Amino acid sequence: METVKIIFGDKVCELPIIVGSEGEKGIDISNLRKTTGLITLDPGFANTGSCTSAITFMDGEKGILRYRGIPVEDLAEHSIFTETAYLLINGKLPTSQELNQFSVLLNDNSLIHEDMQFFFQNFPRASHPMGIMSAMVTALRSFYPELKINEEEINLTVTRLLSKVRTLAAMSYKISRGHKVIYPRPDLNYPANFLNMMFDNPVRPYYIDNTLVQALNVFWILHADHEQNCSTSTVRMVGSGRVNLYAAISAGVAALWGPLHGGANQAVIEMLESILKSGGDVKRAIERAKDKKDPFRLMGFGHRVYKTYDPRARIMKKMCDKVLDKLKINDPLLDIAKQLEDAAVSDDYFIEHHLYPNIDFYSGIVLRAMGIPTNMFTVMFAIGRLPGWIAQWKESLDDPNWRLSRPRQIYTGLGKTRYTPIDQR
Ligand code: ACO
Repeated sequence: METVKIIFGDKVCELPIIVGSEGEKGIDISNLRKTTGLITLDPGFANTGSCTSAITFMDGEKGILRYRGIPVEDLAEHSIFTETAYLLINGKLPTSQELNQFSVLLNDNSLIHEDMQFFFQNFPRASHPMGIMSAMVTALRSFYPELKINEEEINLTVTRLLSKVRTLAAMSYKISRGHKVIYPRPDLNYPANFLNMMFDNPVRPYYIDNTLVQALNVFWILHADHEQNCSTSTVRMVGSGRVNLYAAISAGVAALWGPLHGGANQAVIEMLESILKSGGDVKRAIERAKDKKDPFRLMGFGHRVYKTYDPRARIMKKMCDKVLDKLKINDPLLDIAKQLEDAAVSDDYFIEHHLYPNIDFYSGIVLRAMGIPTNMFTVMFAIGRLPGWIAQWKESLDDPNWRLSRPRQIYTGLGKTRYTPIDQR
């Protein structure tokens, strides 16, 4: 086995190199502090692996993303969201019987306890749906308490979450508009049911367009997992304290909310709208993004891991054209987006910094075309990421190297200081 030797004063520590199944290597520092007294410091964890995982493989340099070994391009083309969710959570593609059983369970668990509707009524109208979603997912724990952590109970909780989160999302939208809540229907598949719950109403029945159902399948498949990103790491970290699954997922929803993470899809549309409003000056946006004195960043560009085109963005861009074409929508924001992409990918700053469009750059335009309001975009992402969070949480439960997540720090504050009584300050 390859090792790395650390010599610190008179202490020598030999650290093993761990090799992943795709050849990536990492130094196992588990014994570093015990042997040398040293810890590592890695702001933003850009060089730190927090776990080993068999769920998702990504290579940021080559633009590769695979779930359980299957390229995301193949899943986007051939799979449906529920099948991909099953794959992530259970580690293998379901047989048609298993997929049917899974769909029946999702259907059986799709209703929300009627009392939960009252919670929605009491949130102020302007509340952000991500805040509501995070609160409601935690609230599910009170309505559907887990008995104990065994396989059957976990499977029930997992299916409940997958099904109820989708119902909660649509319900929060309906209630925010003061409209009648639409219940899930047993005859509709997962994405079609969601669209129907969002847009059907008693005086204007919703026509379910197959292109939109397919687009939503693809949107959710592309978001389904992305290894140890900010929200997934949050789910694992919160879960490491052995909280219930609802609490861990609720923390993941909160983490996803940020504009540098899942909130970017909303931020992209707001940015494109503001460029359009100020006359469509794409060059100025590029110049602002490059100006270090200006806090403006090109939203939907750049990624911690991808240093090339985000493979998901390619698929999303194609889907975007397909949806707009089918619905015969001429969205001026798409024109701005295309101009911005052309200008950025040929600009030296963006090339040198390896900044390419990420999935959020085009996903907002697809969601807009479906009629999803901008403040619901990140909720849409959360529904898609749910299988990944669940799979990662499940994997962490069975990890023989599992420990409570508890990083260390290098303290830079005051030395021992005397307490000054209040009248002497
Ligand atoms: N526009 C302009 N410059 C950028 C951008 C951007 N979108 N992203 C990074 N940079 C520049 C930084 O200014 C920095 O430049 P410098 O080295 O000359 O100082 C360099 O690129 C590295 O930036 P970091 O912030 O250190 O990169 P990091 O890996 O930490 O950040 C992040 C990644 C947060 C995604 C960043 O690229 C960003 O803010 N993008 C915009 C928000 C966004 O689209 N987020 C969605 C990410 S995908 C997802 O979560 C689903």
